[in-house]
Amino acid sequence: MSTPTSHSYSDRARRLARGLRTRVSREAGLAGRVAELEKQMQVMRREVKAAKRAAKTAARGMQGPAIGTGTKVSDPVKIGPAAKVDERIEALIASVRSQNLTFLSFAGLRTLSACITDLEQSEIPGLVIECGTARGGSAIVMAASKSADRGMMVFDVFGMIPPPTSRDGADIHRRYETIKSGAATGVGGETYYGYREELLGEVTASFAEHGVAAEVNNVALVPGLFQDTIKLDEPVALAHLDGDWYESTMVCLQRLAPLLSPGGRLVIDDYDSWSGCKTAVDEYFADRDGFRFERRGKLHIVRV
Ligand SMILES: C[S@@+](CC[C@H](N)C(=O)[O-])C[C@H]1O[C@@H](n2cnc3c(N)ncnc32)[C@H](O)[C@@H]1O
Repeated sequence: MSTPTSHSYSDRARRLARGLRTRVSREAGLAGRVAELEKQMQVMRREVKAAKRAAKTAARGMQGPAIGTGTKVSDPVKIGPAAKVDERIEALIASVRSQNLTFLSFAGLRTLSACITDLEQSEIPGLVIECGTARGGSAIVMAASKSADRGMMVFDVFGMIPPPTSRDGADIHRRYETIKSGAATGVGGETYYGYREELLGEVTASFAEHGVAAEVNNVALVPGLFQDTIKLDEPVALAHLDGDWYESTMVCLQRLAPLLSPGGRLVIDDYDSWSGCKTAVDEYFADRDGFRFERRGKLHIVRV
């Protein structure tokens, strides 16, 4: 057996040294590559965060800013989008509008109808009520939107609107002077409702003509001043308050708000149109808890 020479020892040592150098440089290369990948991952993490922030901002932009907490009249929650109704109600709305039976807009009538459909689906108990009906357009849409067995009461003087009081502003007093003078005109230039001889008879006929005859749809048309006629002690699911003036609004709030079922609502038609109505609502709800304020075009007040 041959013994290794000093020559073969140094050859082997050189080979080992070369191998070590190759390994060290390969590992150094890998370490560099790892550091590079870590940097790239950091950049990617930052990009993902930025993309998430951008997506959130874009989503807020599409919904519009969130408005209000709903806890105060002055800070209502904005509810959208605009309400949709089925074809039957859409046709009815077109009919009452084309016959000049209502001051309400298409959107206002759709929202009223959709709120009644909602309360039927949620089985909120109580009457459907309108205070301030004039020629009956909004009440007809409301009657057609409720189930036939749910009671509905329609309150109106069915004659001349009563005079305003010192709690109403100049806008209302000016309007009343016009009404008193005989110069007011109705919707579409027709005879103003307060000058019509047989308003209650006309409204009764309009209900029937639109397929919601009062007597077969559990609807009571109640003539007289709200102050004399609204005397209820049963739950209310929805009340549409459309009496314009301070006293007319305040008496409805005092007599109906305490009767609202949980989830029941008041729809205030004139909050943005007549000073007296706004004053009455602001005063009545200034220090009352247990209600949520919503904007669905008109001001809605929901019993929570
Ligand atoms: C703006 S109109 C109602 C409009 C109707 N909702 C529509 O669809 O066009 C207001 C009605 O409320 C009635 N009204 C106002 N104050 C009243 C009161 N204190 N008692 C009874 N009726 C009142 C008026 O005579 C009038 O008929």
